[in-house]
Amino acid sequence: MADEPSEPILELRGINKSFGPVDVLKRVDFSAYPGQVTALVGDNGAGKSTLVKCVSGTYTIDSGEYLFEGRQVHVHNPRDASSLGIEIVYQDLALADNLDIVQNMFLGRERLKGIVLNESSMEQSAQETLASLSVRTVKSVRQRVSSLSGGQRQTVAIAKAVLWNSKLVVLDEPTAALGVAQTAQVLDLVRRLADRGVAVVLISHNMNEVLQVADRIAVLYLGETAAQVARSEVNQQQLVELITTGGLGTDRPGATNGVPA
Ligand SMILES: Nc1ncnc2c1ncn2[C@@H]1O[C@H](COP(=O)(O)OP(=O)(O)OP(=O)(O)O)[C@@H](O)[C@H]1O
Ligand SMILES: [Mg+2]
Repeated sequence: MADEPSEPILELRGINKSFGPVDVLKRVDFSAYPGQVTALVGDNGAGKSTLVKCVSGTYTIDSGEYLFEGRQVHVHNPRDASSLGIEIVYQDLALADNLDIVQNMFLGRERLKGIVLNESSMEQSAQETLASLSVRTVKSVRQRVSSLSGGQRQTVAIAKAVLWNSKLVVLDEPTAALGVAQTAQVLDLVRRLADRGVAVVLISHNMNEVLQVADRIAVLYLGETAAQVARSEVNQQQLVELITTGGLGTDRPGATNGVPA
């Protein structure tokens, strides 16, 4: 497990987001730290994906503060987020099926040699990035993504974030569709990504996986922050209680850091 983090790279304070009359996010606080895996958990409909879409600029927040590297920023669209170094890996939308691994990793940011694509340079960088993450299950970087397994696809999406020096990588349910062995591989990669200094946010419904890989855990309950704690501060039972009731024991739902020492 990583050392105590210094400053959060991402800090959301009192975020509100409504869709018409529906208040989906209410005064949400959320922080992510370099070199740490922050798990974002909560029941179905708690607001996790909405929060991530606010971070990625897919949605604009109604009110609240969005700080990145200590400065208040205004993220109005996904391009704003990616220019800050934020990469979101969605389960299905991350890659283009009909393209190969190299083409996917360089999509929209292709390297040129004169007026033609510098294929050998891109191929080499793609290979090096996968190797640097100790990815061994991918046979050729010229394989079409449609021929990859779910776990390999996640691997390529994560490697893409590494290749582009992303500072914050959000993975929304990366293991939801994966078998046991592939899940283990992806979690291993999540850990290695954080060990390189990247701030990783992992959304997951799997408590074992959260407790295994996270350094910090943030719990959303009905659109409010129920807790933001270090992994060492909660056990599985407390985590389930936070997710299902929004508090611990007599704690009022929605209280932040609602975990006794
Ligand atoms: N565009 C929208 N318009 C209206 N309501 C929405 C919209 N998007 C989400 N919601 C509502 O906001 C709430 C939070 O949804 P969200 O998808 O963020 O939950 P989640 O925590 O990601 O859930 P899950 O674990 O099932 O993925 C839900 O009640 C949902 O119905
Ligand atoms: Mg969701």
